[in-house]
Amino acid sequence: MIEICPSGQWRPALQNAFDFAQKQVKNLVERDPDFYPMYTQNGHWRHTGEAWTHWCDGFLPGMMWIFHARTGDAEWSQLAERYTRPLEPRKMDRNVHDLGFIFLSTYHRWHKQTGEKALNDVVIQAGQTLALRFKEKGEYMSSFMGPDSLFIDIMANVGIIFYAALQTGDKQLLDVAMKHSLTSRRVLIRGDGSSSHEGMYDLETGEFLRQTTQQGYRGDSCWSRGLAWAIYGFTSSYNAVRDARFLETAETCADFYIRETPADGVPLFDYDLPEDGPRHLDSSAAAIVAAALLRLAKLTADPAKGVLYDQTARHILLTLSQPPFLATEKEGWEGILAEGVYHLHKGLGVNESVMWGEYFFVEALDRALRA
Ligand code: GLY
Repeated sequence: MIEICPSGQWRPALQNAFDFAQKQVKNLVERDPDFYPMYTQNGHWRHTGEAWTHWCDGFLPGMMWIFHARTGDAEWSQLAERYTRPLEPRKMDRNVHDLGFIFLSTYHRWHKQTGEKALNDVVIQAGQTLALRFKEKGEYMSSFMGPDSLFIDIMANVGIIFYAALQTGDKQLLDVAMKHSLTSRRVLIRGDGSSSHEGMYDLETGEFLRQTTQQGYRGDSCWSRGLAWAIYGFTSSYNAVRDARFLETAETCADFYIRETPADGVPLFDYDLPEDGPRHLDSSAAAIVAAALLRLAKLTADPAKGVLYDQTARHILLTLSQPPFLATEKEGWEGILAEGVYHLHKGLGVNESVMWGEYFFVEALDRALRA
């Protein structure tokens, strides 16, 4: 159970973390210009470890857009533009289910800062492309693994389809986003608020077959980052269309996170690990949840829950803003947040910095510091 220690001290710690984040990103772009890293090895972004799938390129420029919006420093907008432009061709990329991650962090933030229509058109096209993954039988968008695979991660991307649908008035797009969200809710979210990473389908009949996982401990366990994507994603879906079912799901998953996570707010990479198994933390799950809870706190209809979600988010951020999570005391460490996990079974990015952890940490810090 997360234990909130009321403290007036969160602001200086979070501001310090935000400043450290800018320093680490500046060092990265000076040391290794125009490189889009994914996870560190021994604290270094440049290595030859495999990507598994190509989904992270928006997160580095996304942080730059946040730095610019918060500081007004023109150097950040120049860098953000330089790192965002090369991503445009990916608006047609049909090989990944991650176009929300790539374009909501970049072109969407850029458009919000300038209002330029051409930038918005890129976001809309990316949403339209993502929707092409929709399977009529089964009513879900398939993961990059194959047409019979549904990932909870896609919930954190479906927001770009809701956005494209609402911008264009395209009812078919809206239908895809609604159906995908409702299917994920039905087959990947359990009664206790835990989540499954992956669902498998029979392509002939559209029948849902079973829950399984790629990155979690096992098929019936709760992978903590998957839960984080669920909280973030259902919050975004509710924000887009105000369907009460999405709010209820976001809150049920958030309540599981608060109930089952250790007092400091950072979970193990899976909630069902055996005592004698590998027990690595995942700071990136905590960062994503902090960002989601700050949004959910403003959307919930229950004022007591609003306070709980807001205070929990600040408590998590306070934990992440200190060692061993904030990498200030790790000599030569190139990331911002240590203690993340990408893919344990493949041995990728274990106890390392991960680009999505950096991005959602910066997003959450920015939101918290606005209050
Ligand atoms: N596959 C996305 C993630 O690692 O969370």
